[in-house]
Amino acid sequence: MRIGVLTAGGDCPGLNAVIRSVVHRAVTNYGDEVIGFEDGYAGLLEGHYRGLDLDAVSGILARGGTILGSSRLQRDRLREACENAQDMAREFGIDVLIPIGGEGTLTAARMLSDAGLPVVGVPKTIDNDISSTDRTFGFDTAVGVATEAMDRLKTTAESHQRVMVVEVMGRHAGWIALESGMAAGAHGICLPERAFDPADLVKMVEERFARGKKFAVVCVAEGAHPAEGTMDYGHGAIDQFGHERFQGIGTALAYELERRLGKEAKPVILGHIQRGGTPTAYDRVLATRFGWHAVEAAHRSDFGRMTALRGTDVVMVPLAEATTELKTVPKDRMDEAESVF
Ligand code: F6P
Repeated sequence: MRIGVLTAGGDCPGLNAVIRSVVHRAVTNYGDEVIGFEDGYAGLLEGHYRGLDLDAVSGILARGGTILGSSRLQRDRLREACENAQDMAREFGIDVLIPIGGEGTLTAARMLSDAGLPVVGVPKTIDNDISSTDRTFGFDTAVGVATEAMDRLKTTAESHQRVMVVEVMGRHAGWIALESGMAAGAHGICLPERAFDPADLVKMVEERFARGKKFAVVCVAEGAHPAEGTMDYGHGAIDQFGHERFQGIGTALAYELERRLGKEAKPVILGHIQRGGTPTAYDRVLATRFGWHAVEAAHRSDFGRMTALRGTDVVMVPLAEATTELKTVPKDRMDEAESVF
């Protein structure tokens, strides 16, 4: 069998672990040939690929990013890919394509699959917002980075009697903010799923200072937004991939809290540091298991599906099921975290 692999969308720790796992299982167990398309679907459309043998994936398990490169795909190019899906498979001689990516990548994978390309998807994203899988790899690493950042910010905040507003990633799903906020003991957590009122945060900080506490940490997801009429904060424009460009809620909220409280409030935007560097052990293991199961699925001709974690088992689920809606933070998970506003 000849297998094509690509990584698309925003990168995430663990991508290399999947690539390595696919090559190990495919080459060692089945004697397959594996090729890697460069820079996401662009490599598939433009015919940029290279062979991946055991040497090519040696030493990449713990490496962040993706050795294949990544990019986002514009809608018109996706249409072009779908029109030529079967020709592309013939041209590259691939029996199956394994795209590793988030919601956008898996939606494209589903469309390519519907157009006749044999596809087995592997979900990834630090946001943990893909339906049908309990976890995506990359999330554990991002939560760890954000938690460590907040642990560190607490000591400096306390020294200077400051409020730290820490903005983490998460456009529509607040999983990183929820779990890192809980793990770090943030005093306020703001999620995209629930509009917050800055007056509640002001009250929380004032109560803390009244109890003799000298600092506060607020963890805010980049997609969090204040309730209508509570604070000046606009919606951003939509970029060429259909994603909203956010206005910077961390900075806006820090400014607002400083103005209302008369205390120093500093924004800290963690940004892409949450996605960079080595994956945690958990993410390496999950990524490796997903790669193994993707190859097994390919050999069973179990196409149009993706790997998913259910409990502790890896199962295959239809791509259609996984891409219909985002997995956002449900109310009961918010209720468990007393600091969600
Ligand atoms: O989807 C993963 C993610 O890291 C989001 O959390 C974030 O909003 C987005 O990608 C950032 O995208 P880019 O790398 O294009 O700035």
